[in-house]
Amino acid sequence: MRLLVVSNRLPINVAEKEGKLTFQQSAGGLVSGLSAYLASLQGASANSEYIWVGWPGITVEDDLQAEVKSKMQTTFQAYPVFLPEDAMEDFYHGFCNKIIWPLFHYLPSYAIYDEAYWTQYKQVNETFCAAVMDIIRPGDVVWIHDYHLMLLPLLLRQRMPDVPIGFFLHIPFPSFEIFRLLPETWRTEILEGLLGADLIGFHTHEYTQYFLRSVRRILGHQNDMGLIRMEDRVAKAGTFPMGIDFDRFNAAGKAPEVLKEKGKLKKTLADVKVILSVDRLDYTKGIINRLRGYQLFLSQHPEYQGQVVLLLVVVPSRIGVERYQQMKRQINELVGEINGKFGTINWTPIIYQYKFLPFYPLVALYGVSDVALVTPIRDGMNLIAKEYIAARTDQIGVLILSEMAGTSKEMVEAIIINPNDTAEIASALALALEMPEEEQISRNQVMQARLKRYDVIRWSGTFINTLLGLQEEQKIFAPALLGDNREALLSSFRRARRRLLLLDYDGTLVPFTEDPLAAKPGDDLLATLATLAADPRTEICVISGRARDALENWLGSLNIGLVCEHGAMLKQKDGAWKLIKPLMNNWKPRILPILERYADRLPGSFVEEKEFAVTWHYRKADPKFGSALAKELMDDLLDFANIDVQVLQGSKVIEVRSAGMTKASAGQYWLTQGDFDFVLAAGDDWTDEDLFRILPRNAYSIKVGLTQSYARFNLRDYSEVIALLEDLRRIE
Ligand code: UDP
Ligand code: G6P
Repeated sequence: MRLLVVSNRLPINVAEKEGKLTFQQSAGGLVSGLSAYLASLQGASANSEYIWVGWPGITVEDDLQAEVKSKMQTTFQAYPVFLPEDAMEDFYHGFCNKIIWPLFHYLPSYAIYDEAYWTQYKQVNETFCAAVMDIIRPGDVVWIHDYHLMLLPLLLRQRMPDVPIGFFLHIPFPSFEIFRLLPETWRTEILEGLLGADLIGFHTHEYTQYFLRSVRRILGHQNDMGLIRMEDRVAKAGTFPMGIDFDRFNAAGKAPEVLKEKGKLKKTLADVKVILSVDRLDYTKGIINRLRGYQLFLSQHPEYQGQVVLLLVVVPSRIGVERYQQMKRQINELVGEINGKFGTINWTPIIYQYKFLPFYPLVALYGVSDVALVTPIRDGMNLIAKEYIAARTDQIGVLILSEMAGTSKEMVEAIIINPNDTAEIASALALALEMPEEEQISRNQVMQARLKRYDVIRWSGTFINTLLGLQEEQKIFAPALLGDNREALLSSFRRARRRLLLLDYDGTLVPFTEDPLAAKPGDDLLATLATLAADPRTEICVISGRARDALENWLGSLNIGLVCEHGAMLKQKDGAWKLIKPLMNNWKPRILPILERYADRLPGSFVEEKEFAVTWHYRKADPKFGSALAKELMDDLLDFANIDVQVLQGSKVIEVRSAGMTKASAGQYWLTQGDFDFVLAAGDDWTDEDLFRILPRNAYSIKVGLTQSYARFNLRDYSEVIALLEDLRRIE
């Protein structure tokens, strides 16, 4: 397998000085995460081949493009996509960073809805598509990243229908109310573009759910546990919280380069407590909020003046966008104000650096800082928070973390703050600086263990494996006309000693009508069913969503079984209507991993598996974290209300168990009524899918309509079902 990673930003930026090219490391969580993963592939034999397709960071003049291309390919395994200056202006500064970035980070008032930006966004996505088409070969897997390329999955799918395509969004996916602010054609095309991928990944459960809700509300596609079934394909949305290369950061804490750097820093910072702040220059990072929090802390705690220093590192980013320039000016002003107000000849409260730090100096800073202050007002994940904890080989140090960062879902042992609450930031600083070392160690141990377990390799491995697994699922769902298998079906019916026909009614045996009461069975249909049922070898059951009365009136005189309301009640031939409640537990493998994830997140909690229920117990866990996580889990599980489970919250337990009835349970009931060696089920509706899923492998499951289904075969419409039944009736 060869992996094509596609992102706007390549890990290496090209810079040009007086006609000479230089290559520099680029910044941002996407690049850090993917670089770590791809580095891990080196030497990992079978899966080691990859190419990273992306923009080289500047507009490269025509005469230098060949050189850049060759250097990128040979040295960095990268394939550059060249874009002219004006395209980058409207695409990158415009659509990406003046519309999507602010909107998806809940700053709708910053968005500038310019049609020219959208036109260029579409154009650049086409350009990326052409670049991928230049190099793609059979067997490749494509993994597209981030908000710059949301149209690319569909563009590629249209050209390469069978290639596995994954997409990962590194920023939040906003709630429906925010997403819908995009003009209708834009938001529709963006969702359709994303659904061109087989697998669409997000950092947190909320982002996944918001995406699914937008898909439901805007495109009308329902989903089953994140599996979105469209007419012709299925796609899956899932949660994959991005990790870091834990071992690299942890080992670096003791690397000579870091020890040397730390030695120097400690001399400069002797006798003061160090608070660290590192981010790209971005209004989403809450840099102003944390400066205000620090300012308040200094005035509330004069005893700390002269005893503490804030190391403020701001990495230049997107300076072509006015809002970013504005942010830079605001930071300069506020740093000046705080230093002016509190500083003395001997002490500067804030040491401010506006530059990018390479790996070792960054790890050294992590290592000498008593507190890391991470206060984004909104952040997809935030890797700085994870890296700080991973780099603390001594397990000392306190992380103050915004609840608006995706990371906060996993780093529950940090001091969690609301970045809009200046007083809370100030008191968190006091709490952090006074926290006993044993407590720091015990919190960090738990976080480190989790970061080690869910590292970036596991993140990417899980994503790629899920993507490849979906290929199999696609095959199951792919429509396949009964066609050539019709003869086999007929002869199997002929040979069988006991036959079971499970038939849906509307859309399967009769066409849909405007007035539901007009969908009465015709005499021909009644005669066909009667003849078939007259053979003692053949058992028929009509399983319908209809109410009992309608079925009784229309089909009650036939010698067949009936099931009404999708499985609520059944009537055996010559019998009376009755309720049945056989239980199913095939949902368990889907719910269990969710509960296990929560058990992993909350020390002291555990999962109990019963036959028809799974339970998450948290009595022994920390009560505060336990009840917070229990709320989250309930919310998590209730979103899956479209499957056949009930969610119950008890005292310190959450239980998920079988509930209600579906066509599947009705079908299962019938299957147990005889030793059938021929089973046929036909249906056109999503409720029939439950039934198709549980049939024996050799059953003839038939989806009516040429759409994706769990059924093995498809027929075009009800008239083909009738024709098939006619053929069966003629069999002696
Ligand atoms: N980073 C870096 N040098 C710096 C500042 C940041 O290498 O001076 C890296 C940092 O190690 C982290 C990434 O940039 O991996 C920032 O990722 P994060 O998710 O925190 O924020 P993003 O920039 O993606 O919004
Ligand atoms: C965030 C985005 C990335 C982006 C990075 C740096 O992490 O999710 O896609 O690469 O910021 O921003 P830049 O605009 O410089 O690529």
